[in-house]
Parts: sequence; structure tokens; C-alpha cells
Amino acid sequence: MAATTISIEPLDATFGAVVRDVQLRNIDDETFAAVHEAWLEYGLLVFPDQFLTRDEQNEFALRFGDMEFAATAISNIGRDGTVHSDPDDDVVKSLRGNEGWHFDSTYMPVQAKGAVFTAEIVPSQGGATGWADMRAAYDALDEATRSRIQDMSAYHSLYYSQGRAGYLPKQKPDGSYGMYGYHDEEVSLRPLVKVHPETGRANLLIGRHAHNIVGMDPDESERFLDKLAEDACQPPRVYHHQWQPGDAVIWDNRCLMHRGTPFDMTEPRRMWHTRIAGERSSEAASNHPPAAS
Ligand SMILES: [Fe+2]
Repeated sequence: MAATTISIEPLDATFGAVVRDVQLRNIDDETFAAVHEAWLEYGLLVFPDQFLTRDEQNEFALRFGDMEFAATAISNIGRDGTVHSDPDDDVVKSLRGNEGWHFDSTYMPVQAKGAVFTAEIVPSQGGATGWADMRAAYDALDEATRSRIQDMSAYHSLYYSQGRAGYLPKQKPDGSYGMYGYHDEEVSLRPLVKVHPETGRANLLIGRHAHNIVGMDPDESERFLDKLAEDACQPPRVYHHQWQPGDAVIWDNRCLMHRGTPFDMTEPRRMWHTRIAGERSSEAASNHPPAAS
């Protein structure tokens, strides 16, 4: 299919677009170039009716960069097919934690570049995914705030975010949590203002994993970061997508935050998430420099 036939309909927000007339499986180079250009401009692209297999989803993700991890179920359906809805269940706690606005993998040494996310089984209502445009949020700041945060840095940790929300998983006998992201490396330190490596646009780098701004009282830091996020995640900078089976999206995790929203967890829901690795040269935490192994 020629790139010129791609239909791009911008969302009613500062970012995002619905893209039709394109098949993501076996996408040709010319069409991919148009999709990539639109991705950098809009941050979030929604592709209805794709019904990708996991391999096809991973192949599409690999067009954007290496994978941090291949297609993984984000689901309340257990390996044995049962639906998890108990609030004390670790899977449920992980899903509930994701209802806070965040960037993916800022708690890792290298922040994710983006993700391909697809819907296989969706609940009868609820369970939308929201995104928020941190480029527009930065642009909307007043001059005083912009200059105040220019040189600030905060730590990012899943221990902090899940602990604060009351959703830490059960500890193993050795005291570890044994789930992705609960690492024992140095806690990642990141600037509050990040420049996008491909577009050059500044954006806020905040969200639920961020805490303890360097040089600020911890309680004041928490209030300050909460207020920044609350002000940032307001219309027209947010969009919530109500999923249909077969939908595929790709978002740029270097400039958009996202969150899950509640649904009746006695209903099954299965999404697939392929995480695209950030570049060490631009997405490494400042205390995990690119030269580090
Ligand atoms: Fe996430």
C-alpha cells in the first residue's frame, strides 16, 4: 500500500491521531516512514482493526528500535484461565497501580522509547487507557515554574510508586518481589525537563514513579510533583481510548504519560504490550550514564 493513502485523523487533543488505510503486518518501508513521521508528530497513533498476532506486533515494534521486552499479556486472566479479581492478588495490584499517570520504565536504568499495545479481550465497559501530552504541559507552564524546574531532578522507582499506592506485591522468602522493575540497582535519577532526542521538544518528565526532588524536603517534593502532574494531565492534553478488540496503538514514551482506568475485574480483559527500549544515549538515567554496562 503506498504511503500516500494513509489516512491520519488528529484527535481532539494537543496530540494523537487515528490512522486508517494501513495494515501494520508486513508494512513496507515507504508506509512505515510515513507512520514513523506521524508518530513523532502526534506521539500516539491508534490503528483500528489490526488483529495482530504477537509475532506481528513484535515485528512492528522492532521497526522503532530494540525491544525492552516482547509482547506480554497485561491481563487479569491467569495462566490457568481463571479471572483474577481479588484486591490482594499481585496481578490485580499491578493493574491497579497502573491507574496512576506514568512513563514506562523511568524506574529502570533506561526509560522506554515507546510501546505497541493491542486489545484482544475487552470488558463490557471501563478499562480505557489514557495518555497525556507532556510536551504541551511543559509549554503551558508559566515562566517562573519553567525556570524553577529547569535544573531539578527526581528519583524514579517502582518501590516508591507501588508502595505509596498500597500495591506492592507479596515478598518472596528472600525479601525480593520477583516482578519486573523491582531491581536492586541504584535508584534512577532523572531531570524534570527532558528534551526529546528526535524532535528537540522539551517535555515534563514526572509521573507516579517520580519522588524526592534533589535538595527538596520529601513531603514538599511529593506535593510539588503531585501538583505538577495534576495540572499537566488536564484537557486538551489528555485522551482516553475505549478499546475495541483488534485495536493497536503505538505511543512515544519519551513525551507522553499514560494510565489504565478501572473496570469490573470479574470480567476478563487481555491486552498485549511490547515495550520498545530507549536509547542509552538519550534515555539513560543521569546516574546510569550511557557508558555504563
Ligand atoms: Fe505503563
